[in-house]
Amino acid sequence: MNDALKNILERNSHRNLVEPIPSSEEIELIFQAALRAPDHAWLRPSSFIHVSGNGLQKLSEIFVEFAKENFDDLSEEKLEKYKNAPFRAPLIIILVSTKKDHPKVPEIEQIVSTGTAGQNIMLALNAIGYGAIWRTGSFSFNKKLSKHFDLSEDQTIVGYIYIGTPEGKKKSLPVMDTKDFVTIWD
Ligand SMILES: Cc1cc2nc3c(=O)[nH]c(=O)nc-3n(C[C@H](O)[C@H](O)[C@H](O)COP(=O)(O)O)c2cc1C
Repeated sequence: MNDALKNILERNSHRNLVEPIPSSEEIELIFQAALRAPDHAWLRPSSFIHVSGNGLQKLSEIFVEFAKENFDDLSEEKLEKYKNAPFRAPLIIILVSTKKDHPKVPEIEQIVSTGTAGQNIMLALNAIGYGAIWRTGSFSFNKKLSKHFDLSEDQTIVGYIYIGTPEGKKKSLPVMDTKDFVTIWD
């Protein structure tokens, strides 16, 4: 089978992610792949925050601060979960979509474009032997997050791609029947 197609068909998400992370040359290629996402009117809505090393601690502190400020039902247990969340992988790429004003391109199209940039990142990582999982949860799609990340009001966090070298057994791939999902008009 064609290698590029095999990479798409066999990608899956990994929860157990450890060192090593991609080198700086590999990371450059991964961001180049992200920037090849389809983008109506070339508005370039997508940007990325690369979080590793001390950055994971910074992210943990932001999660705790944001949770204390905004979540009503915050138990000690939940707070601990948020505090530890960024340490589930040695590298996280935060996907940010910046709304640009354009008469033909609404915000939803720009967010979808950032979503496709996220998938390009996941596929590029898979192609060179790294694992990843896309997570959102309570710290995405919330305008109140902006100030904690030094973002502006028109920037949205679309998700967090947790990245590393996969550890443990590979998940089996689900078998999907295209007939359940495809309608043919001809
Ligand atoms: C936008 C988006 C948000 C997601 N958020 C979470 C999440 O917060 N937590 C989680 O466990 N999985 C989340 N997932 C699902 C996983 O990333 C993954 O797709 C799922 O576990 C299926 O695994 P697979 O990619 O190997 O099929 C999200 C997926 C997408 C596309």
